[in-house]
Amino acid sequence: MAPLRVLVTGGSRGIGRAIALRFAREGALVSVAARSSDALDAIVKEIEAAGGKGNASQTNVRDHGSVEAAVWRTTQFTGGALDVLVNCAGAYELQSLGDTDQSLWDRMVGVNLSGPFYVTREAQEALEEGERPHVFNVAAAPALLRGPNSTAVSATKAGLRAFGDALRAEWRALGIRVSTVLSGPTRTGLAERIGADWPAMNEPEDVAAVVWDAYHAADDADVADLEVPPPA
Ligand SMILES: NC(=O)c1ccc[n+]([C@@H]2O[C@H](COP(=O)([O-])OP(=O)(O)OC[C@H]3O[C@@H](n4cnc5c(N)ncnc54)[C@H](OP(=O)(O)O)[C@@H]3O)[C@@H](O)[C@H]2O)c1
Repeated sequence: MAPLRVLVTGGSRGIGRAIALRFAREGALVSVAARSSDALDAIVKEIEAAGGKGNASQTNVRDHGSVEAAVWRTTQFTGGALDVLVNCAGAYELQSLGDTDQSLWDRMVGVNLSGPFYVTREAQEALEEGERPHVFNVAAAPALLRGPNSTAVSATKAGLRAFGDALRAEWRALGIRVSTVLSGPTRTGLAERIGADWPAMNEPEDVAAVVWDAYHAADDADVADLEVPPPA
């Protein structure tokens, strides 16, 4: 079987890194996009050590020109087509409405909503050339949204889910599947940064397994919203 061609934004750390390595273990061509070049260099080495082929694009998903360049570099690397796009770059910052200043709001809208919009739109042509093409948008489980201090994250992650629902309906005719990953509490740098005291956390690899299985699912109807089973 030909190796899968995969782009993971936010693929340098946390959940995105685990997804990149899950596909790399099966020999995929994995392109990762994030801002920090040190972390990108490290993940490319890990992808190659896991059995895949790695490519890194230093990218800020909030910037359309930066995304355009990253998708171009990715298609140069894959030979033009893309089977899997994972929009995982994202932010989850908690703040009261009063303390949600313009810069925090713009950051959340930029990384959680504009980023997936830019990346998915730029990747459309490559996805249309792909084998069973599938877009995964990493949002958040309902339990992590709509609580106090979460207006910006709730609005943008719910918006991302709605973006995916509408795109699924639109791209069905193109044969491109679209899933929303409803990640629950997961042990990553993000959880550490916000000082989360969640009683139970998934590992990033649990989310990666859900994505891997959904890509290979026979029944497309089952892959709209992907919940990650909580840890046993
Ligand atoms: N961890 C959780 O409990 C949890 C729960 C629900 C949803 N999620 C969602 O899961 C996704 C991954 O989260 P995580 O926990 O794995 O976070 P993480 O460990 O902080 O990793 C975030 C990744 O996104 C990249 N990134 C951030 N801003 C970016 C930007 N503007 N442009 C390009 N890349 C950017 C980061 O690299 P650079 O900083 O180098 O750019 C990094 O690779 C996010 O969408 C998050 O909202 C996580």
